[in-house]
Amino acid sequence: MKRLFLTAAVTLFVANSHAAATYAGKAKAEAVCSQCHGLKTAPKGAPFPQLFGRDFAYLQTALQQYRDKTRKSDIMNAVAGSLSDEDIENIAAYYDNKH
Ligand code: HEC
Repeated sequence: MKRLFLTAAVTLFVANSHAAATYAGKAKAEAVCSQCHGLKTAPKGAPFPQLFGRDFAYLQTALQQYRDKTRKSDIMNAVAGSLSDEDIENIAAYYDNKH
């Protein structure tokens, strides 16, 4: 019984912290990323890749690479340059949207 409680508590904690990360990521996405990439869908006819629904790990890696400039894009190097690891995780969690 004790173990069951512990499992439930841990599950709840993980679920909550995920919700918090998604929320923080959404705020950042709305303020910055959505201007080019949109939130749920990229603007039609614009040359910006769709982010919503993409894989967490893919987004996280791409943003780290843009930040470190190992992946080149004038725009994205500038945008990602000021993101912290936490920002990147939050944004990736928001756009991944599968959990
Ligand atoms: C001023 C416009 C602009 C803004 C703002 C912007 N991006 Fe981008 N983003 C681009 C462009 C243009 C590309 C394509 C660059 C390339 O070819 O590598 C891109 C590419 C990407 C990619 C790679 C997608 C893929 O298919 O590999 C990711 C991930 C990404 N952006 C995330 C973000 C996030 C997260 C934010 C907000 C913090 C953001 N972008 C803000 C213009 C923008």
